[in-house]
Amino acid sequence: MLVLGIESSCDETALALVADGRPLASVLASQADIHALFGGVVPELASREHYRYMGPLFDELMRRARLEPRALDLVCAARGPGLLGSLLVGVAFAKALALGLGVPFLGIDHLHAHLLAAGIDHELPFPCMGLLVSGGHTHIYRVESPSRFITLGRTLDDAAGEAFDKAAKLAGLPYPGGALLDSLARSGDPCAVALPRPYLDNANLDFSFSGLKTAAALWLEKSCPDAWPKPLPRAEAAPQALRDFCAAFNEAVVDTLCAKVERALRQNPDISALIVAGGVAANSLLRERMAGLMRRRGGECLVPAPALCTDNAVMTAYAGWLLGKAGYRHDLGMETIPRGKKIPEDMQGPPVS
Ligand code: KG4
Ligand code: ZN
Repeated sequence: MLVLGIESSCDETALALVADGRPLASVLASQADIHALFGGVVPELASREHYRYMGPLFDELMRRARLEPRALDLVCAARGPGLLGSLLVGVAFAKALALGLGVPFLGIDHLHAHLLAAGIDHELPFPCMGLLVSGGHTHIYRVESPSRFITLGRTLDDAAGEAFDKAAKLAGLPYPGGALLDSLARSGDPCAVALPRPYLDNANLDFSFSGLKTAAALWLEKSCPDAWPKPLPRAEAAPQALRDFCAAFNEAVVDTLCAKVERALRQNPDISALIVAGGVAANSLLRERMAGLMRRRGGECLVPAPALCTDNAVMTAYAGWLLGKAGYRHDLGMETIPRGKKIPEDMQGPPVS
């Protein structure tokens, strides 16, 4: 079964082919440089860039795979959550292609696709726990199957990646600063700066990172106002105080994520595997801590390869393959869902025999 996946939920235009569950070819055009000029993603610019690149990237993908479009068995696109204008470009392209080729179409939940990507290299043991940590979302799920995700907890304000990016920006690092903050943290002392572990004093599995961001802003303003120029001209020029700040912030976010995941695992004792996915799953401390946590419990921690943690279309095509081979489809009237709105359970299920 040859599946095309299209990802255009934010600022990457990506297309990929998955054949019988194995990645065959992929192309990706990042808009990061354009949005970096504005310190964040500008939605109107993002959708225009997706529109500009979608057709040429599709041609390039098929050329690389040495295949004709008529070889496709299923066309999938991320349907949400994300920026509405951006999602619409990918979904409209996918629907038109499916209609023209006379093949089925499937809209994919972008967050579920992030987690299911762990299945490309490991067999997924269902039920499992899923921690999705990206620039726009922080969710803990109980994952029963590729089509059944139960939300156990979510962020009430900033997502983990957003918290990293905002802290990095306050510290004078370029956008998006999560990865740079992570790498500077490696040469910092986390004990040198006291930051809170936010929103742990409760019994739930939700997150709130806005208090940590405020604590970080206050420390930068009061305790360390002029220790380095903001913006910082070069990352190599980062002084020790900045590296310490990065290490402390990294620890605060990772400790908080670990505490809630441990609580979720205690409440779901039948689960022995954890998937960690989304852009923040590229964070070295988070990977190390989650792996240790699962090892101590005698379970396993599955993290997609780093290139499959950030936005990509291989995960979209792979999720499409899992659902498509189980018989799921969408009709072409399927709605695209922006961030903040619930994705309806409207897939047409496998035929009942
Ligand atoms: O999943 P993703 O590529 O896009 C969204 O769907 O949001 O996630 C991007 C986020 C950004 O906030 C970025 O700063 C963060 O992932 N990120 C990291 C690291 N690498 C990427 N955050 C912390 N440490 C990293 N190493
Ligand atoms: Zn994403």
